[in-house]
Amino acid sequence: MKTVFIDCSPKKKLSASGFIMGVTSVFVRGIKKKEKLITIADHERITGEISDADTVVFSMPLYVDGVPSHLLPFLKKMERFCHDHNKDINVYVIANNGFIEGKQNEPLMQVMENFCERSGIKWCGGLGIGGGVMMNVMRILLVVFLGIALLRTLLSGISEGTFFQAWPWVIYGKQILEILVLGCGVIIFDIWLAVCINRKKEYGKHYTRIMLPSFLFIICTDIFFTVISVIQGGIFKGWLSKKEPTL
Ligand SMILES: Cc1cc2nc3c(=O)[nH]c(=O)nc-3n(C[C@H](O)[C@H](O)[C@H](O)COP(=O)(O)O)c2cc1C
Repeated sequence: MKTVFIDCSPKKKLSASGFIMGVTSVFVRGIKKKEKLITIADHERITGEISDADTVVFSMPLYVDGVPSHLLPFLKKMERFCHDHNKDINVYVIANNGFIEGKQNEPLMQVMENFCERSGIKWCGGLGIGGGVMMNVMRILLVVFLGIALLRTLLSGISEGTFFQAWPWVIYGKQILEILVLGCGVIIFDIWLAVCINRKKEYGKHYTRIMLPSFLFIICTDIFFTVISVIQGGIFKGWLSKKEPTL
């Protein structure tokens, strides 16, 4: 069984779509191929991978309540490809969005379902995840907390003469658990999706979110975007600078 995972986020790094796709692929058996779809130059390579695949998993962000526009030319190409080659393929979708409610992804799921019907391929369902930005917050926190645990081990080693202290790692273990609680909805629905991919079964449509109250979610994302803007060239410089399209 061959599964092609397509990360459809236009972000070159730190995309939530890529992260969720990576987590899903861990639970999927058989040959796995991960692809990144940003420009037209990627189309040929990806359709080549799809030609001998049983399953395609699209992982994408929600843009303006729909499918990102750079994906549409690829869907057209894939529709033609599947018609021409009479391809029998299963399609699953993982969508994530900026707002906290995963249900916001419903119009995107409908677009993808219609695409499958028109292309004569099998729509197997999708997972919509609210609060996608928290994926980045969660993985950055994991690395930051790991750094703090290492620093604590080093400092207590220097001051007490023993480098095998358990307490920094007990604290780190608790921090990992707290982060997993935030993402427990995503993890459970994701494993369920992987089970359906393995069994080639229909998944239906399911929606989940980051397990954080909305008012805390807004504070966390505001802090995250402010820090990222500063790192990427200053708050106003980052927002107002001209960006070249990557087509
Ligand atoms: C152009 C654009 C349009 C967006 N439209 C929506 C939207 O309609 N609803 C929403 O909840 N989030 C929207 N978002 C937020 C993204 O869905 C969100 O940041 C997502 O986590 C990005 O995923 P990625 O890191 O995989 O690219 C939009 C973001 C951009 C850049």
